[in-house]
Amino acid sequence: MIPSDPWDRETARSYDTPDTGMFAPELLRQTVDRLAALAGGGRVLEFAIGTGRVAVPLRERGVSVTGIELSTAMIDELRAKADEAAIPVIVGDMATVLAPGRFSLVYLVYNTITNLLTQKEQVACFRNAARHLEAGGRFVVELGVPDLRKLPPGQTAVVFADEPGYIGLDTYDVLNQRVVSHHFRFGDDRQANLLRSAHRYIWPSELDLMAELAGFDLEERSADWTGTPFTAESGSHVSVYRLATR
Ligand SMILES: C[S@@+](CC[C@H](N)C(=O)[O-])C[C@H]1O[C@@H](n2cnc3c(N)ncnc32)[C@H](O)[C@@H]1O
Repeated sequence: MIPSDPWDRETARSYDTPDTGMFAPELLRQTVDRLAALAGGGRVLEFAIGTGRVAVPLRERGVSVTGIELSTAMIDELRAKADEAAIPVIVGDMATVLAPGRFSLVYLVYNTITNLLTQKEQVACFRNAARHLEAGGRFVVELGVPDLRKLPPGQTAVVFADEPGYIGLDTYDVLNQRVVSHHFRFGDDRQANLLRSAHRYIWPSELDLMAELAGFDLEERSADWTGTPFTAESGSHVSVYRLATR
């Protein structure tokens, strides 16, 4: 059984890892540089804003940021860093809820589109991004490439991380294009902490088709936030979609 609310208070409290991992200053600087440039001085909207890992430094850069977020526990963590006046947040589902006004950029990072577990919801998310954008506006999606080359026929689980005190294990349901990520954290005693999250993985080509259904063209795809070319060996991508003007 996967917990129905993986983004509960316990997860929210331990989400931020200041200065390391996804909070590494260099990674955040690159992310914010690219998003600020793509915003072109306009207002931006983050789908699934979480604790404000990206939104807070983007706001500090002078960009006007609004968020949509389902978990009130994650929003509470954000509120310790930025109040409602600095970063307004609408509580709701990024596939359906509306934030007031129009934006030059909507972004959805750190594989979070896969938290929507059906193709229908993922397409709805693209349509919801389009609904929020000005003419010619952009939707940026950061997403991993499904790691299925590591999964031999007949096997359903892959260890994706094996570090002191931490093991990451993915279990696949390839028929339904789903993966459950298990994060085991432990010390020297018998106790371990397990966090699980369910995802519907998406191939880049399917993502492009979802974008097209919502009226976007792919403007650019790179392997990271600095514009490194995307190749067959890339593990993830930053895809920039632009609302078609036709
Ligand atoms: C991996 S975190 C990413 C948070 C933040 N964007 C970041 O980069 O650190 C995923 C976030 O997505 C939120 N989330 C999951 N499904 C959502 C949905 N359908 N609508 C809005 N937020 C959602 C979770 O509550 C969680 O805060």
